[in-house]
Amino acid sequence: MRALTVDHTAPGHLALTEVPAPRPATHEALVQIEAVSLNFGEVHGATHPETPNGTVLGWDAAGVVVQAAADGSGPAVGDKVVTLGADAGWAELRAVPAALLGTAPKDADAGALSTLPVAGLSALHVLRRMGSLLGRRVMITGASGGVGRFAVQLAARAGAEVVAISRNPAQAEGLRALGAHEVHPEPAAVTEPVAYVLDNVGGQHLIDAFAVVSAGGALFSVGRSSEADAVLTPDALIGTDSRHDRSIRTFFLLGDPATDFSADLTWLAGELAAGRLDPGISRRTPWADHAEAVQALLDRRLHGKAVLDIQ
Ligand SMILES: NC(=O)c1ccc[n+]([C@@H]2O[C@H](COP(=O)([O-])OP(=O)(O)OC[C@H]3O[C@@H](n4cnc5c(N)ncnc54)[C@H](OP(=O)(O)O)[C@@H]3O)[C@@H](O)[C@H]2O)c1
Repeated sequence: MRALTVDHTAPGHLALTEVPAPRPATHEALVQIEAVSLNFGEVHGATHPETPNGTVLGWDAAGVVVQAAADGSGPAVGDKVVTLGADAGWAELRAVPAALLGTAPKDADAGALSTLPVAGLSALHVLRRMGSLLGRRVMITGASGGVGRFAVQLAARAGAEVVAISRNPAQAEGLRALGAHEVHPEPAAVTEPVAYVLDNVGGQHLIDAFAVVSAGGALFSVGRSSEADAVLTPDALIGTDSRHDRSIRTFFLLGDPATDFSADLTWLAGELAAGRLDPGISRRTPWADHAEAVQALLDRRLHGKAVLDIQ
């Protein structure tokens, strides 16, 4: 089969090559991949000199089951599915356990489905950790990105007053259309307290966002798109007023290998297919033309998801 493999001599450190097809374990279905979406972390991972040539990366992929799991778990042959994994998604075939796979309506667009696993699940799981959002102010930093767009939509649907942060003024209208009540260029521009923050950016964004978290609230550190460190002074950490019991929590989607994502992936796929969730695709090309999309992602020129069609 063909796969997009690490090749440190190729543009974007990736090249289409022939590799052996995966041999599914008894609890894994074999999926014919139709589309994949790219995440900064894995694309950046391909550029690391220590990632060996020939590695098949890829977290997000969607397609059709061509062989059901031998133990009877998971979907049947012909089912449209969206899949998550720690690697091996950028290939014509992927072996996936039932816990990392959601089923989708047959006519759902595989490209749109492929945006869901890392970005959609991260947004959903962080917002769930916040508890009830009805009437609560929730700040989303890096709101124009993959995680941010899903977080804005899901938080708005959960009844939150959504405060979106994007440095790019051209993103404001689109973020309001997704459900943001306010859009600011940076957290320091927000004066009214927020109950929770989903922070995709880190650095000064994290420091300034934490400064407006109200008593008992929390900041969830999801990403560090700024690649900057956040050093909190005692005043910033403890606060100079009476806002206490505030916390900063880390998050890692694949932190617990026992997590079963199937129900959430199936729900997200259904919402997307019904038009109630916008996948936010900002670039879509055949996978043979991956280099430009990869470079745009590495240069942080993308707002939303990049999708590659497997052709
Ligand atoms: N912990 C986990 O399990 C987990 C899961 C998923 C993602 N992540 C991480 O979470 C972060 C967001 O992921 P994503 O897929 O949404 O990334 P993305 O699509 O690249 O979006 C990141 C957004 O952050 C903003 N941004 C980028 N550089 C910035 C800078 N220097 N200063 C301020 N804002 C900046 C940009 O928005 P504007 O240009 O509009 O400001 C951009 O749209 C990434 O760091 C990713 O690696 C972690």
